[in-house]
Amino acid sequence: MCGIIGCVSHRDVSNILLEGIKKLEYRGYDSCGISVVNDSKIITKKGAGRVDDVDKLLNFEEMKGHTGIAHTRWATMGRPIDKNAHPFYSEAQNFSIVHNGIIENYLELKEGLIQGGVEFSSDTDSEVIVHLIAEAFNGDLLEAMLKVIPKLRGAYALCVLHNQSKEIIGARNGSPLLVGIGVNENFLASDVSAFVSSTKKVIYLNDFEIAKISDKVEVFDFSGNLVEKKIEVVDWDITQAQKQGYKHFMIKEIMEQKKVVEEQLKVKFDFAVIPKQVHIVACGGAGFAGVLGEYLIEEISKIPCRFYHGSEFRYRNPLLREGDLVIAISQSGETADTLAAVRKAKEKGVKTLSIINVMGSTIARESDEVVYTRAGPEISVASTKAFLAQVISMYQVAFALKGEEFRLDDFQDIIDKLLSLNNKIRELAEKYYLAQNFIYIARNRNYAIALEGALKLKEIAYIHAEAYHAGELKHGPLALVCEEMPTFAICPRDEFYDKTFSNIEEVKARGGKVIVLATSGDEKIKHIADDVIYIPKVDCLFYPLLETIPVHLFAYHIANLKEIDVDFPRNLAKSCTVE
Ligand code: M6R
Repeated sequence: MCGIIGCVSHRDVSNILLEGIKKLEYRGYDSCGISVVNDSKIITKKGAGRVDDVDKLLNFEEMKGHTGIAHTRWATMGRPIDKNAHPFYSEAQNFSIVHNGIIENYLELKEGLIQGGVEFSSDTDSEVIVHLIAEAFNGDLLEAMLKVIPKLRGAYALCVLHNQSKEIIGARNGSPLLVGIGVNENFLASDVSAFVSSTKKVIYLNDFEIAKISDKVEVFDFSGNLVEKKIEVVDWDITQAQKQGYKHFMIKEIMEQKKVVEEQLKVKFDFAVIPKQVHIVACGGAGFAGVLGEYLIEEISKIPCRFYHGSEFRYRNPLLREGDLVIAISQSGETADTLAAVRKAKEKGVKTLSIINVMGSTIARESDEVVYTRAGPEISVASTKAFLAQVISMYQVAFALKGEEFRLDDFQDIIDKLLSLNNKIRELAEKYYLAQNFIYIARNRNYAIALEGALKLKEIAYIHAEAYHAGELKHGPLALVCEEMPTFAICPRDEFYDKTFSNIEEVKARGGKVIVLATSGDEKIKHIADDVIYIPKVDCLFYPLLETIPVHLFAYHIANLKEIDVDFPRNLAKSCTVE
């Protein structure tokens, strides 16, 4: 994944770059580094660890220069240690590069370079690029880039710096890269958050495009021909990317969901042609919104619907027929597996609709149609408000396919009630936070939220948790139940209540502790549950929407009690731009 930024400015760039990689840390936080050109020399500082920690050690802001590049890493090739941190520089230290992506043929390239006498300083694939640039350079950095690019196989967004020039060359093939146009300064970055405090004017690069930024901006294709690009103005409120007094972005993002729901309920889906079958593709949490979509679309619109993980869809040769529709769901709009699924669908001539949170992202641009979710910028790696917006979008799609509009009456009051569960759930978390395993159970459409609850516990609290259809417990997982293995049962007063109730009794009969997410007024459940979280009574169909906030709060408080860096869980990154 990784985040990259480059800047050419009338002012010193080290602070701009430092703030930029802090904003990009959601893309990876294993190591970081900055290179700047100072007096015809490239100065580089880098190290393993989070940006703030590395900065305390190395003091990035001391670096003086008007042209520079920076990187924050999510390790793909080579362990997260100092020597594998970007930027990488050439042996004569006259070129420096940052890279996001994977160079698949790096071993053969590396071998060739070693035979030519080059000594490598890291275990990464990325380092080959800087040596290839040094080898190809003949006075013009853009020309060198154009010579190197055909040699690279894989995915990349790159920024390259030369000690003698006041320009940065960026190239994009498979990993996001965009240009920011400021006043007397220009930027290249993985996403707009990295420079939005300086400018909102953006050029989105497509794959196979190169940008040359200096005091002006030029874009070329991979053959070196000038390409005319549109400048767009992004609608991004910088305060949304700040914690505003909350301890973590995750809890802040949970707490701002009343506004999110209000905005999301305004979104309209309009299907001029009703598809014969719907195929939903997504990954991780977005995938659970997709699982919910599968239930809702079939139930509400009676159109066959199937969910696939992006990573599976592209390689299973899915049976897509004329008249089908592929719906991709993604917060970032950059998830490589979901993007590949969209491309696969297009290749097969099937129409694609994407439901995306980040404007102008790659999946949004490559789909036939896009509808944006209205969650606003989401920083925490664990998705909460964007997930809720995706959940609502599934109701909107299902109703729109039936020719109706989705409405949620009294939603302000409902969301207030759900958010006011915060203290109760914090107390509950105190009781359970030392558990090492958890089971989540639910039936039918509620199962999607059981999956989401279990994922969140794994992702941010490092607790092993699995979700099962409640009726499946007896076919194996029930053997796991004991006093140390709590069960989180989602059992609203819906059509499946009695059945799930019986499954909870089965768990209790085996000595398991059970927390139940139940409907307000359900007194019966108190007799078997160890703990109950009540959610407001609504139409059965809508319970999954209400269940989302409590499962997120539960995972958050457990992770917080375990003193985990909630917004930056180990080994993860928010935007997964590699396969
Ligand atoms: O940006 P996307 O929605 O495509 O991301 C998909 C998953 O990587 C994402 O939902 C991930 O599982 C979250 N960290 C879940 O909280």
